[in-house]
Amino acid sequence: MLLRIQQALQPDELAQVRQLILTADWADGRITAGSQSGAVKNNLQLPEELPAAQQARHIVSVALARNPMFVTGALPKSVYPPLFNRYGGEANNFGNHIDNAVRTHAATARHVRTDISCTLFLSDPASYDGGELVVQDTYGEQRIKFEAGDLVMYPGMSVHRVEPVTRGERLACFFWIESMVRSDDQRRLLYEMDMAITALRQKDLERAPVGGPESPEVVRLTGCYHNLLRMWAEV
Ligand code: NI
Repeated sequence: MLLRIQQALQPDELAQVRQLILTADWADGRITAGSQSGAVKNNLQLPEELPAAQQARHIVSVALARNPMFVTGALPKSVYPPLFNRYGGEANNFGNHIDNAVRTHAATARHVRTDISCTLFLSDPASYDGGELVVQDTYGEQRIKFEAGDLVMYPGMSVHRVEPVTRGERLACFFWIESMVRSDDQRRLLYEMDMAITALRQKDLERAPVGGPESPEVVRLTGCYHNLLRMWAEV
């Protein structure tokens, strides 16, 4: 499932993150690459121990934790602390690869299985050419270039690349999620069901005063959602 979350960062948070990372010392992006992806990776990355990276990561993490779309789409069990990358000039692309299946966070030795890959766009798309995130899925290639502040989630098992940036620069935040529900198909079903229940609940609210009882159908469907989650979740 490919999912767009618009304004995952509010404009003030986006501005803060950009300000923090733009002036920091960047390093070669291969610092976190595996041997296969390292061969095709040509970008810059912010070393995660830098104070600027820590502060920017905190802003992103707080914003995501309060975002209901993020939570329902990912059902996160564990999130790899967000990283930041930069494409432009000589270091401007990342060829086709699949992200490593398990990331180990160096500072905590914590393992995160990469069920979901995330990119949070931090540059105005009009400010650079190229830089599309291209994700291969069963429908073919998806070319993704979102507004600054928007986030895309896609299955960690997808082959993907970042096209060369030929003008300007592309800043992004990226990270991985281990989900409580490992299977992308099961997660998608739960997401669809959750969205449908939310819409039905909204209709109930339009018919009845706030605080009134929900319809029996909504109660039963919500029960089905939780019972499916109970069946599939690993916590
Ligand atoms: Ni990748």
